[in-house]
Amino acid sequence: MSSKVCEAIREEVKCFSPYTAGKSIDEVKEAYGLNSIIKLASNENPLGTSPRVQDVIKLYASSTFRYAQVGTPNLVDAIAHYFHIPDDTIVSGNGSDEVIDMLIRVKATPGKNNIVAFKPCFSMYQVLSRLNGVEFRQAALNDDFTFDWDGLLKLVDDQTSIVFITTPDNPSGYAPKVEEILALHAKLPKSCLLVVDEAYMDFAEDLDRYSMLPRFTQYDNVCVLRTFSKCFGLAGLRLGFGAMNPQLAEYLRRIRAPFNVNILAEQAGIAVLQDTPFIEETLRVTREGRAYLTKELEALDFNVYPSLANFIMVEAPKDGSYLTEELLKRGLIIRPLVKGYNLPKHLRITIGTDHENQVLISALKEILNAE
Ligand SMILES: Cc1ncc(COP(=O)(O)O)c(C=O)c1O
Repeated sequence: MSSKVCEAIREEVKCFSPYTAGKSIDEVKEAYGLNSIIKLASNENPLGTSPRVQDVIKLYASSTFRYAQVGTPNLVDAIAHYFHIPDDTIVSGNGSDEVIDMLIRVKATPGKNNIVAFKPCFSMYQVLSRLNGVEFRQAALNDDFTFDWDGLLKLVDDQTSIVFITTPDNPSGYAPKVEEILALHAKLPKSCLLVVDEAYMDFAEDLDRYSMLPRFTQYDNVCVLRTFSKCFGLAGLRLGFGAMNPQLAEYLRRIRAPFNVNILAEQAGIAVLQDTPFIEETLRVTREGRAYLTKELEALDFNVYPSLANFIMVEAPKDGSYLTEELLKRGLIIRPLVKGYNLPKHLRITIGTDHENQVLISALKEILNAE
């Protein structure tokens, strides 16, 4: 039955495809009748939730009837201190997804401006541009998933309000050097904001070579995004931030929903930044696991793309969907890249604990040898 109220919804929404997340642990348990699952699909922290965060959540459990302090100033202070950036440049959000949405709503006028990114790229740039009624343009990556800067620049005109780049990139793990990003920046119109999404930068080894976070204050029109969902293990609480010119930050604060960062996310964010052993162990496990998986997967004839992130992208020696399905039957979830990315032969694998990585490799050996 067609409903009059739904006939009259916005055109952008009628033809909308939602964000496609990977399969959840419960879905796989139910579909395959399994009790235990290893999930290496969503780039979450392999160690789980920091013990300090667990303590602070218990401590604040009785305070959730209160609103958080608007703008979460204590969290902003903690972020400023940890990342060595000024307080007034920081805008916290309900995940960096929310900061992406705020940037688009502040910078891009529907029907007038456009937004430019690579293809494939993190799907929320497109989802949120389209939802906000803003034209979204994409330049193909090079065949080896490095960045075709000239191709990107060809799409930029004086109506381009935002250019998004992701480094290390999702889904490839590729990160360009800072000089390349600065060369792109030099060619952009001054009115255009360059958003450098560094969701996975914590896992890179040589930050000075790759990260724009220590440098963005030198440029009016550069914004760096960071998330607490990956290295800091707070995906389920939703916390991220943008670092940008203070005037732009002020505009975002004007339009953001009050209390967008909840009280538990705020306290957890402060606590995890103080949990040095947890962060150091996360980085050790991820970096060692990345090297281990790369070596083992190459030995199994996978084409492994070099990655600075907490995941690796591979091209499988056999059909990617077949491998994904066989792994699911054995309780292992990885991320096929057909939906959303249109890469049928490629798979994205989150680095797990040493044990999880070994189970994955044994399962792949079994599947490939059985053929
Ligand atoms: C490149 C990139 N940016 C942003 C995000 C969103 O992070 P958050 O959980 O903070 O919204 C993700 C999440 O997977 C991501 O891959």
